[in-house]
Amino acid sequence: MRPHIEPFCDRDVTFKNMRLPGFASGMGYKMLSFDPETGGCSMSVRLNAGYHQPPGFSWGERELIIISGELQIGDRTCRKGHYFFVPAGYALPEVRSENGCLVLEMHNTGEPSHEESTEHHPQAEVGLYHDVDTYMDIPWAMGNVVSPAVASGCLIKLLNYNPISHAMTFLYCMTPGFYQDNISYHDCAEESYHLWGTSWMMQFGDIPTGGYFWRPAYINHGAFASEYGCVALGRTDSKLFNHFHYNPWSNPVENADRSFARVYQRDPLLYKWAFSEVHNHPHGPEDFEQTMQRRGDEEGHDNEHKSDGHRHDHWHGHHHNDPDSPFRHPLDEPHDHHHHDD
Ligand SMILES: [Fe+2]
Repeated sequence: MRPHIEPFCDRDVTFKNMRLPGFASGMGYKMLSFDPETGGCSMSVRLNAGYHQPPGFSWGERELIIISGELQIGDRTCRKGHYFFVPAGYALPEVRSENGCLVLEMHNTGEPSHEESTEHHPQAEVGLYHDVDTYMDIPWAMGNVVSPAVASGCLIKLLNYNPISHAMTFLYCMTPGFYQDNISYHDCAEESYHLWGTSWMMQFGDIPTGGYFWRPAYINHGAFASEYGCVALGRTDSKLFNHFHYNPWSNPVENADRSFARVYQRDPLLYKWAFSEVHNHPHGPEDFEQTMQRRGDEEGHDNEHKSDGHRHDHWHGHHHNDPDSPFRHPLDEPHDHHHHDD
């Protein structure tokens, strides 16, 4: 598990020299997030002018996107916005940068490694490799890849999709003036690196160029806004579902319970066979939106007796038929039904 990193901006820290064996000199890194169990990590990386790395593969799965500058991969020159999905054991040709560049490197399954080789590892799933110039060769699509969806004005380019876990890598942008007023959390971890521009979130403030987060599941985020727009790389580690709500005080445990309650309400048989025998909720898990107090415990006011369509309970303790009462409602003419508080 990677811990929650947010807010964080890579511009606030300096590059460290990469000294792991196998890596060429001239490579600086800023650690963005790190899994202490697997060594998986995300780093922003600076390759100095003249950098060159012999052909070879990593023992773990990687994803890369060029933040700025140009990178030569074999005889191809790739510019900013070029994305690579590189399966474990997939050998890349020589990598060079004549004038230097910045790259976002994501090591998904283990610590960074480089094994010099001109051939793929025999067990590499070479068919999974793909790369693309995301800025030039993919059009922006509506952000409604999942439903319920983000507000219009948040657009995406899907870059990688895992059909088993439904994990996604995507570019997203917020158009100038974008805003979304609800609060969101997910059942998956969510990661973002701002390639350019600034967005804002109610809980964590501005995310500027170089801003980054690794956010575990069930943490509230939003409302959102972006004054001048932004372009970012986003990832989820499993299926993305937008649990939207308007309760800024709910905590991750309550959010997870509500998520669980939604499985119970939507897929009761799945809940029954998968969960209920090991989970001691007599009436199912709690969905805070259905049980939360909607109104403060105002003194003298009856919060318990809400209108259920059968009773006519007045929660206010004053005489509402008093013609001088400032609370008097035009429809509050004298009537003769039962008042519990009479
Ligand atoms: Fe999110």
